[in-house]
Amino acid sequence: MYDNWEQLEAEAKQCRKCKLCQNRNHVVFGTGNKNAKLMFIGEGPGADEDMQGIPFVGKAGKLMNMAFEAVGLKREDVYIANIVKCRPPSNRNPEDDEAQACLNYLRNQVILVKPEIIVLLGSVALKNILGKEYGITASRGKWFEKKGISYMPTWHPAALLRDETKKIDFIKDLKEVMKRMEK
Ligand code: URA
Ligand code: SF4
Repeated sequence: MYDNWEQLEAEAKQCRKCKLCQNRNHVVFGTGNKNAKLMFIGEGPGADEDMQGIPFVGKAGKLMNMAFEAVGLKREDVYIANIVKCRPPSNRNPEDDEAQACLNYLRNQVILVKPEIIVLLGSVALKNILGKEYGITASRGKWFEKKGISYMPTWHPAALLRDETKKIDFIKDLKEVMKRMEK
């Protein structure tokens, strides 16, 4: 357990707990408002994120920014992190041993931020946070409660790049989140 950000981030930045440490340029720890009511969890860094050390700065991130703007959300108001902090080679999904090795950082980020709502971006975030039995197609757009936090699974922004129709769902899910935030 960590009681401060500095300690947690410092440990993550020199982490070698899984094989993803071998090819990384940066540990992509997380970004945004550390007192946010709303948190987003993605999968893992891509090439742009690995180069810059910041989550969701590539193509998928730009699309996410546009969706945020459409619903009146500001990136500075939310906290954004990933299941794994180092880039999986060729953008493959993180493997179970990698996610398991890394999840403790994310758990501590959630403890420190204390969000009311967490948006799970895509299948990898969903399965690692709520459980392997959940599928993104059936779960997206629905609320799940766990340990005092409300979870909303939705499509991963990269999926919107491949399938335009998913943009409508994504915006709808974000609007639902905004509605609950206002309560
Ligand atoms: N995809 C993710 O899941 N996370 C990022 O930070 C960037 C792309
Ligand atoms: Fe450590 Fe996570 Fe990077 Fe693996 S992905 S080396 S567990 S920070």
